[in-house]
Amino acid sequence: MTEEPPKGRKFFEDSLSPASEVEAALRPPSFEDFTGQPKTIERLQVMVGAASKREEALKHVLLCGPPGLGKTTLAHIIGHELQRDVRITSGPVIDKPGDLAGLLTNLQEGDILFIDEIHRIPKTVEEYLYSAMEDFRIDIMIDQGPNARSVRLEIPRFTLVGATTRVGLLSAPMRSRFTLQTRLDYYDRADLTKIVLRSCKLLGCTINQAGAEEIAIRARGTPRIANNLIHFTRDYAEQRSDGTINEDIAAKALELLEIDDRGLDEMDKRILSTIAENYKGGPVGLGTIAVAVSEEEHTLEEVHEPFLIQEGYLKRTSQGRVLTQKGWEASGIAPSKDGNQMSLI
Ligand SMILES: Nc1ncnc2c1ncn2[C@@H]1O[C@H](COP(=O)(O)OP(=O)(O)O)[C@@H](O)[C@H]1O
Ligand SMILES: [Mg+2]
Repeated sequence: MTEEPPKGRKFFEDSLSPASEVEAALRPPSFEDFTGQPKTIERLQVMVGAASKREEALKHVLLCGPPGLGKTTLAHIIGHELQRDVRITSGPVIDKPGDLAGLLTNLQEGDILFIDEIHRIPKTVEEYLYSAMEDFRIDIMIDQGPNARSVRLEIPRFTLVGATTRVGLLSAPMRSRFTLQTRLDYYDRADLTKIVLRSCKLLGCTINQAGAEEIAIRARGTPRIANNLIHFTRDYAEQRSDGTINEDIAAKALELLEIDDRGLDEMDKRILSTIAENYKGGPVGLGTIAVAVSEEEHTLEEVHEPFLIQEGYLKRTSQGRVLTQKGWEASGIAPSKDGNQMSLI
């Protein structure tokens, strides 16, 4: 039986689902509106500028970094700046070479294909993606048994923008096919404050500088978290006060969410106190911590650990994770006098 050529439509995400609509409204539309990440922005501006001038497709770009820092936003900005469509899909959705072929043959010349969580593309599909990225064609097998034959599909010159929270899981051949690999970092307080003020303006909610700073310091360096905190704080301000967000209202609202003034959330604090209390400050393996705090290992690795390490609460050593002095202090548990290890006597 001959298979119909696969259609790509169903693998594209509907970018206007209700949840993404709220996010989309707060998304900066252009490089100028995007706060922070100066190195990444300059790199992208250079490439996008050159591609438009030469009127050719942008080279493939890989965006890495923890969730909520702006990878999807940047993919949209790239499309906007190039005045090209952005087709969105994600790694786990493409589970057969035929799915990939369907996606790629549905693209127009110069389109941007955004593959989120690209590290989750199955290995069997990955190889096909190589030739698509490099030579803009793929050879797929159709039919089975004696009728099996390979068909070469030409693909319009497109740009792949990949996003990943786990660049270490991408194979070297995959990584090397991206002309630019750039990493997004957690935002500092000043940039997050700007983002908070901007989002509040778009949402039509009144906030002062101190209120914005208060939200910024509790947002774990992450714009998505900052936006979520704004929504809650705005509700709190309306219910408990006159609707204006100031320092006091923001602090009270966020205390109600048990987010402390270092930006640590409940899980962060549980990780630190578990290492302190049960493992004497470490070293302890990630798998063990995951079981102890009842959380998926990969969530700890992608979401919690990068922040705790960047902020200096936790160290990664070859034997496992170890609390720093700052980590001990945040855990609320006193270490023994002889350094990290509790005395055994
Ligand atoms: N630099 C930024 N300036 C303003 N808002 C931002 C910025 N980066 C991200 N955001 C906001 O944070 C939210 C999450 O960003 P997103 O691009 O979806 O993150 P990711 O894809 O990395 O998980 C979006 O709603 C967006 O509005
Ligand atoms: Mg995203």
